[in-house]
Amino acid sequence: MMSAAAPTIQIGSQEHRQILARFFLDSHVDFVPESIVRPTLAEPSRARLTALPFWQEAVATENITSNTVAAAARLEPDPEIRKAIEMQGFEENRHARLLVALTSHYRIKVEMPPRFEPHSLENDFLFAGFGECFDSFFAFGLFALAQKSGYFGPELIAIFEPVVQEEARHILFFVNWVKYRRSQLPWWKRPAFRLRCAWIILKQVASRIKTARTMGGASDSGDNFTTTRACCARGWCRFLQNLHTGCCRPAFDRRRWRHEPRSG
Ligand SMILES: [Fe+2]
Ligand SMILES: [Fe+2]
Repeated sequence: MMSAAAPTIQIGSQEHRQILARFFLDSHVDFVPESIVRPTLAEPSRARLTALPFWQEAVATENITSNTVAAAARLEPDPEIRKAIEMQGFEENRHARLLVALTSHYRIKVEMPPRFEPHSLENDFLFAGFGECFDSFFAFGLFALAQKSGYFGPELIAIFEPVVQEEARHILFFVNWVKYRRSQLPWWKRPAFRLRCAWIILKQVASRIKTARTMGGASDSGDNFTTTRACCARGWCRFLQNLHTGCCRPAFDRRRWRHEPRSG
């Protein structure tokens, strides 16, 4: 149960730095993705799993995120926080390995992208981090829906659960790291850092809108085009709003509370 009064932590303080690194390192769960037992699925269930539209995107994203995070760790001057970022890089790489094991086991067609090489370490880290915040937040809701509706059986839920929980840790770590990082900058550099973050968030929002529009269908033409698009956009907005309030927010809160500092 949540305690009524959570302790207040000063952003940028020694305590913040320590909790940021320790919560992440101490909550790491040890598992080997290749050793996870993958249940035998009846053909209709396997086909349903194969038909999910995000496998290629997931493989590409984990490739970018794991290599970006692993490389960005070397920018971090604080040894404990650096260790935490290295740990996140390891976990992201583990997600990539789990995806390889799953897709090959269930014969899901994906193309393995070439290893991603980050060019601008901090910008790429920020871009990957804010991207994870959007993707994971909605993934929590969709995962909760899949669980409740029985779309995924308990054996598949058991495979994905540690990964979904790890993503909750990652975004908790990331948003706190952004605040910690900003607090360590001289005051005159902070506005530029805020602006850079805002710009990256906007780019991530724009890319999600583009994806949603693509999913809305690009084949309409003529007079119906605008009306269809408008209906589609309204439908998506309603769907996302319901998903946000009904599933994502509660699902994220449940996951976040597992790592919340408690008082008393
Ligand atoms: Fe990941
Ligand atoms: Fe992650």
